[in-house]
Amino acid sequence: MANEREVVFYDQGAATQRMLAEVLAGFRRPQKQIAPKYFYDEKGSQLFDAITELSEYYPTRIEMQLFDQHLPQVRHRFGDQSLCVVEYGSGSSKKIRRVLDTLAPSVYVPVDISRQYLLDNTHELHADFPHIAMYPVCADISREFELPAEVDSLHKLGFYPGSSIGNFLPTEAVAFLRRVRRTLGQDAHLLIGVDAKKPAQVLEAAYNDAAGVTAQFNLNVLRHLNDQLNTDFRLHNFQHEARYNQEQGCIQMFLRSTCDQQVMIGDDTIAFTKGERIHTEDSYKYSVQEFLQLAEAAGFADAGHWQDDQGWYSLFLLTGQDAQK
Ligand code: AVI
Repeated sequence: MANEREVVFYDQGAATQRMLAEVLAGFRRPQKQIAPKYFYDEKGSQLFDAITELSEYYPTRIEMQLFDQHLPQVRHRFGDQSLCVVEYGSGSSKKIRRVLDTLAPSVYVPVDISRQYLLDNTHELHADFPHIAMYPVCADISREFELPAEVDSLHKLGFYPGSSIGNFLPTEAVAFLRRVRRTLGQDAHLLIGVDAKKPAQVLEAAYNDAAGVTAQFNLNVLRHLNDQLNTDFRLHNFQHEARYNQEQGCIQMFLRSTCDQQVMIGDDTIAFTKGERIHTEDSYKYSVQEFLQLAEAAGFADAGHWQDDQGWYSLFLLTGQDAQK
């Protein structure tokens, strides 16, 4: 096909040594913890996709409705400018298909830590959007990474759906947004989905689904560590827990040890007492005002935002404060 564009893979992925050091540091803290980015090996990414299909997990459904309603307007703002869409954490291919269809960028740069999932998804997408050049970047989005030089001259639109910003602590979220501005450039835009505060029963049902998919997703982090770091976690010795912490405004997920046990991690042995918990994820929920404060602290300005009728979920278009003047 004459118009067919290329797929070029850029690997800036995390080294196993760094993963081991980070995981060990997390287990040496008084409250043991594993960073949520380690949920996303290939299996974890598939389990997350399954979560997005659950009736209890409302964010994906509402976000898709907001895309249908508002993406045409977003495209309209850029006129006939050539766009480069940079997706942070290339997750659900359903969302990105909607974005590529409506925003019609000339280049798509998916950035993800899960190498195989990233490659498979990009090749599948490229088969359906052969006119869009695709430069997948394997990198940890919670650290600095570089965009391919090929996209230097294009207007960048960052895309960070699914309220993944909620998985950072608020201070880390500000640092993340600052990095996004640095990576994309001062006049770039960021389209970002953010989950809102709502009654605890609704939130807790979304993270304790009846089919137990979220429990599998949570436990899968231990299987990922077993695969990558040769640890010997026995998954049946841990139980999923998710609770809404009203004071902090976040869902907190844990894995509770169901017995006294020891686990080998590298050359270290880590002991767990019965009932002790590993903290695996926070998922912060923000009102429109709370989120705009975070964005402003990172140097972004509001270029438009939309919510569903119940006010359960928000979509923001941000741009650099200097670009707005
Ligand atoms: C990816 N992230 C926004 C999800 C969330 O809702 O915090 C991850 C997740 N954890 C449990 N269910 C979904």
